[in-house]
Amino acid sequence: MSFISVRNLKFSYDEKQQLLDDVSFDINKGDYVAIVGRNGSGKSTLAKLLMGLESADGGSITIDGLELNEENIKKIRARMGIVFQNPDNQFIGATVRDDIAFGLENRCVSHEDMQNLVDRFAVKVGLENLLDKEPEALSGGQKQRVALAGVLAMQSDIIILDEATSMLDPRGRDTIKNLVRELHKDKSLTIISITHDIEEAYKADDCILLCDGRVCDHNKGKDVFKDAKRIRAIGLDVPFVGKVKEAFKEKGIFLEGDSEEEIVGELWQYTLKN
Ligand SMILES: Nc1ncnc2c1ncn2[C@@H]1O[C@H](COP(=O)(O)OP(=O)(O)O)[C@@H](O)[C@H]1O
Ligand SMILES: [Mg+2]
Repeated sequence: MSFISVRNLKFSYDEKQQLLDDVSFDINKGDYVAIVGRNGSGKSTLAKLLMGLESADGGSITIDGLELNEENIKKIRARMGIVFQNPDNQFIGATVRDDIAFGLENRCVSHEDMQNLVDRFAVKVGLENLLDKEPEALSGGQKQRVALAGVLAMQSDIIILDEATSMLDPRGRDTIKNLVRELHKDKSLTIISITHDIEEAYKADDCILLCDGRVCDHNKGKDVFKDAKRIRAIGLDVPFVGKVKEAFKEKGIFLEGDSEEEIVGELWQYTLKN
């Protein structure tokens, strides 16, 4: 059985709309998986279901052999960290330091280790000068950094990021994306990233596309985004590489590459030949 297995999940907030109709997918241990879909397609709800914060109307979720139910919920939650879409819902401490440490308090970590972890991850996300501030005084992007540091400090083996960098400026977003990629390198960390960042989804190990309450595609990011027409019809944007290929296709030049480097290579070849 795969590491995370979601089978025939059903969920609705009210009878009028079956939000998740029949969602099934598998995630391997150590993968970096992106979940994409238009606004309102139920991505944040799916994240809450995975954490056991909402309960499904049908279907099952199994994580590392444990079915998500009343009996196992504590064990499962102890291994998962989530950064919510709206970081305001995640703050309880009087200072940034308290907030980053919050998740560690339930984890039998000594005070000294806790402070070390808080300091280490505060530096990694660029918050080292804000540790004594009140969380309420921070900007949206800074709050997202605090939430992220808190989750990373827990060193969970599964992390769910729900649009976790949406409030950061492009440079801040790149820093955080690089940090997450770096942490993911040791392959014991499984990352589920719900994202509007098409470039991130394009590069993920796997990309799950949600539409109309179901998984309408689950493939390598570059394959999910191959059909630009379909992606636009779903209401999503096309990655940069796809846009470049489309533009050249209109001029009768058919590029095959899946990355910027490959496309640049092909264009050089083309230029040299002509
Ligand atoms: N707590 C809730 N109660 C009722 N409806 C909700 C609640 N949370 C979300 N919804 C509705 O469910 C739908 C999916 O929301 P959400 O899971 O946040 O989608 P996404 O994250 O893909 O944008 C939306 O129509 C939203 O308004
Ligand atoms: Mg959402």
